[in-house]
Amino acid sequence: MVLQMPIQWRPAMSVGHEGIDADHKSLIAIINEFEASPDFAHAEAAARKLYRYTEEHFLREELLQRACGYPTGANHHLEHQGILANLKKIVQRHFLIPGKSDVAEAISATTWLMHEWIVDHVVKRDPTMAPFLHRATARDWSAVPLGQRSHCGL
Ligand SMILES: [Fe+2]
Repeated sequence: MVLQMPIQWRPAMSVGHEGIDADHKSLIAIINEFEASPDFAHAEAAARKLYRYTEEHFLREELLQRACGYPTGANHHLEHQGILANLKKIVQRHFLIPGKSDVAEAISATTWLMHEWIVDHVVKRDPTMAPFLHRATARDWSAVPLGQRSHCGL
């Protein structure tokens, strides 16, 4: 198992929008909660929570991108879809198949993906939204409140 340091949100990760920054901080908190899971039951609950929150956050972010005229939203959407597909695969492989209960392996695989995601996507891709986000209104942001969607079985 590869041990990772807990991720910490840093001002350099800011996209210049309070709502998205708050979502990213919450995601990091869930990732850290997941990594600190003392047993399989906690890891499973945190993994499902992580998937659901990520899915909702991506939707909110993409709606905001459309509202503010962000020009590379299609590519951004594809990156989101790739992250979600990989996360779903990992959650299914490690947490939904009976008999698979190696919590260290499950945490290691998921942690690796989430660290990659935070480094590659949140730090490098999401800041490209910064020049456009001032055009979005508070109403655009609240169009999809967290916790209001159904999700694909996780
Ligand atoms: Fe993003």
